[in-house]
Amino acid sequence: MSADLSVQLAPGNKRGLLLSNPVMTASGTFGYGTEYAEVFDIQRLGAIICKGTTCEPREGNPQPRLFETASGLLNSIGWQNIGVKALIKEKAPAWAGWRVPVIVNIAGDTVADYARVAEELDGVDGVSGVEVNISCPNVRVGGAAFGVEPDSAAEVTTAVRAATSLPVIVKLTPNTSDIAGVAAAVVKAGADAVSLINTLKGTAIDIRKRSPAIGNIICGLSGPAIKPVALAMVYEVAGAVSVPVIGCGGIATAEDALEFIMAGASAVQVGTATFANPRASLDVLEGIEQFMEAEGIKSLKEIIGAARG
Ligand SMILES: Cc1cc2nc3c(=O)[nH]c(=O)nc-3n(C[C@H](O)[C@H](O)[C@H](O)COP(=O)(O)O)c2cc1C
Repeated sequence: MSADLSVQLAPGNKRGLLLSNPVMTASGTFGYGTEYAEVFDIQRLGAIICKGTTCEPREGNPQPRLFETASGLLNSIGWQNIGVKALIKEKAPAWAGWRVPVIVNIAGDTVADYARVAEELDGVDGVSGVEVNISCPNVRVGGAAFGVEPDSAAEVTTAVRAATSLPVIVKLTPNTSDIAGVAAAVVKAGADAVSLINTLKGTAIDIRKRSPAIGNIICGLSGPAIKPVALAMVYEVAGAVSVPVIGCGGIATAEDALEFIMAGASAVQVGTATFANPRASLDVLEGIEQFMEAEGIKSLKEIIGAARG
């Protein structure tokens, strides 16, 4: 009999958010999922998280917006997206026919913006949950500004919780001195799960031009460079909250993912790795399956938090 990799990410929510396995794609690195449907069987994934979605369509930040660093990637895409109305009309109908659940990453400039997007998505066929992005470092208003302090993070969560019956995942920023405090505050405010981490603040300078190498100057750092930071934060947050924790940050292999799971994550997200290897998320899943078989592990639950004291 094959092992049980299923995981329930919203045990406290009436609808629930049951995944067949713990491997998800990270927001902003997998489009709307539709783009990858030709590349591999995306239905095998645990869940897909789409690009950050706002009330109105947005063009994002000025170019250049991507810059490669040692073991990492700087991005300042901003919230380039088609807007929630177009998403409901053009993307959700396809998702409704999929086996893999799609979670919509939501963002806004104000608390009311977040609530409006969440409300629009409530009851839409094909949408299985929302991930609240209070952690984007490269936008001037909104985003990470809400995620730095427990009170403002809780305020956004309360508003989203009141606006939708969908499972609510709150995505945390590492750019704070108290990520466990922010996690505890959003859980108290009604988050069904937390995901972490979003990108770390970073930049690069073009020394010949004597100017920033990226249009928006302050960017988000992702990829292997941030994995140890993300892992430590997942370990810390998993000890501070009782809801499921979703680990993200530099995961490129099954071994990376298993580290997060053993640190206490119930599921993982694969982000930047997809740019180098479009089927990275599936490779991670297959690697986890092989590891479990080789180690005689019958259920994922046996290893969630296994490295905790
Ligand atoms: C190009 C790019 C775009 C991103 N867009 C979003 C976004 O719209 N919303 C969000 O919450 N996170 C966004 N992220 C952050 C990722 O989802 C993820 O949290 C982060 O990159 C760390 O994981 P990784 O090292 O596996 O990429 C983006 C990351 C990248 C590289």
